[in-house]
Formats: sequence, structure tokens, C-alpha cells
Amino acid sequence: MAQFGTEFCDHIAIARFENDAWSASFIEPLKPLSLHPAAHVLHYASSCFEGFKAYRWEDGKARIFRLPGHVARMQKSAASMRLPVPDADLLSSMVIDLVASQIDNIPPPPSSLYLRPTLIGTLENIGAAAAPSSEATLFVLASPVGDYFDCGTATLKLLVEDQRARTTEQLGSTKTGGNYAAALGPTLDAKEQYGADQVLFCPDGDVQETGAANFLLISDEEIITKPLDSTFLHGMTRDSILRLAADNGYRINEKNITVDELLELVKTHEATLSGTAVCLFPVGSLVYHGDEIMVRDGRPGPNTVRLRKALQDVQCGQAPDTHGWLTEV
Ligand SMILES: Cc1ncc(COP(=O)(O)O)c(C=O)c1O
Repeated sequence: MAQFGTEFCDHIAIARFENDAWSASFIEPLKPLSLHPAAHVLHYASSCFEGFKAYRWEDGKARIFRLPGHVARMQKSAASMRLPVPDADLLSSMVIDLVASQIDNIPPPPSSLYLRPTLIGTLENIGAAAAPSSEATLFVLASPVGDYFDCGTATLKLLVEDQRARTTEQLGSTKTGGNYAAALGPTLDAKEQYGADQVLFCPDGDVQETGAANFLLISDEEIITKPLDSTFLHGMTRDSILRLAADNGYRINEKNITVDELLELVKTHEATLSGTAVCLFPVGSLVYHGDEIMVRDGRPGPNTVRLRKALQDVQCGQAPDTHGWLTEV
């Protein structure tokens, strides 16, 4: 299968906001967007997006994972970017209609169809730096994707960054492109200087998240992760893993930890990234102030493997969906 995010279905769902109202949505052939060079998004970055997956089960139907949660997060991001907020019904039906039209293009589990709703400000006004975009385009792009878990015993090396932040506190829980632009430089620097795969952003010692995933510590008894606040993206995978872990008897310990505490905890706890693309991905080592510190023995831990399988089983229909996370199409 092609590299994640580089192959697309040949249709998108699209709707427009103008004159204070949303248009009906349409499924259209995928083609380049026509955008005025003065479009607000090109100058003032008025955009937000979502990312989640649909799976095709053996019964031939698709199941979208945590659709209402992702729609709600998109609405929150849109409001934070002062973009027109799409109705939940509009966005949900765009996703469902697109998935229905693409069922035959969804590869079998554990591969899936990655869905990328995107909202951009299209107001033609380069003088509107301090004004919202009163016009917008909302589209849903679909991309068949393979399974990251194929990598077997692979682990990640993270640079612990205790100075620079991933983004501002104001936009930390908003899924907007500017946040990824801000994290890109530090991530490339970490790769070049230390061979690190990702940066764990810990501004002033507060352990937050990486550029595109949440961070969890797991032992046989508990999961430790940062409590929800405005500094980081509230991952749906994080939430799902915490609930499945609670079902399986783990203690859920949402608390702030410092870098010093982190370095102690990785002697006994597994470290893992969580996110839609990677599910749970084990961390093998941390680089801090030039030293590489192993997470336990440096290998993927059993609790990470167990919880990753528990989530994947729900997504692929191998375990009951007791939380009502799946939308059938
Ligand atoms: C910055 C950031 N944090 C966390 C996540 C994980 O979120 P989710 O589990 O909803 O995919 C993502 C991925 O979307 C992300 O980009």
C-alpha cells in the first residue's frame, strides 16, 4: 500500500458557507480546488481539520470510529479559528455519504479508510488579518491507508524538549495547520541532531505531547497521562484507550508530570504515543540534554501491545462495541 496519506479516493464531499448559510453538500469528483489568491486561509491560516478512520468488516458494511467525537472536536476547532461552525448533522452526513460511496475502496482490516474533513476560510480579502473569514469551504477527503502495526518490534526515539512549546496555549487543543507548522522546525532539528523520530514537548518541564500524538505511560496497574487542558489536542485514541484500560482494571491516573518525574517513571512504565494513525506506538528511548535514556528495556511492552489489540479488536469487529463508538454505514 502507498505511503500513509498519499493515495486518495476519486471523490470528495463538499459544502460551502456564504451569505450566512451553509449550502447543501455534494459528492464530487476529486479535483484541484479553485481558490482566489486573496483567500483568507492563504494569508491568515484560517483552517482546521480532523482525522479518523472507517473500517470495512466482513459483512461488507463500513464502521466509522467515534464519528460524533470527531465532529464535536472539528466544531470546537472551527469556533476557535472563528470560522463558520458546520452543523453536526451536515458534517456527519458528508462523512457518511462519502464513506457509503467508497465502501468498495476500503481495504480490509487492519487497513482502513482515513477520513480528513477540512474547513478553510475563503473570504477574498487580504486586509482581513484581524477579521474572521465570513466565507468558507468544507470538504471531506478520503484516503485508503495501511496498518502502522506491521512494524513489529519497532519503537520510537523521542527528544525531550523542555524549552520550546509545540504551539501556543490558546491553540493547543485546536486542530489547525499552524500548530503543525510550529512543531515542524523543532522536529526536524531533533531528527538531524539526535536521530529522534519525534519531539516530546515539555515547555517549562510540563510533559505535554508530541507534534502529532498524545503521550501515555503504562504499567501493569495504571495509565498516567496529562489531564485535559488547553495546551494539547484531546485525542480520541487517548480517550478510547483510557476507557478500555479502565474496563480492563487499570487505574487511570490523569495528572501533570514534570520531566524529572518522567525520567524516573520510564524505569518502570512503558511509554507510548497514541493517535488515529498509529493507534498505540511504543517509545523505546528518550533523549534529554544529549543523553539517551532507555524506556524500561527499550522494547515494546506487554501492556501497550495488549491495549492496542483491545482497541483494534473493537474497530475491526473482533470485540463488542460496548461504548457505542462505531457508526455503521
Ligand atoms: C497534535 C496531536 N495530538 C494528538 C493526536 C491524537 O489524536 P487522535 O487520537 O484523535 O487521532 C493528534 C492526531 O490527530 C495530533 O495531531
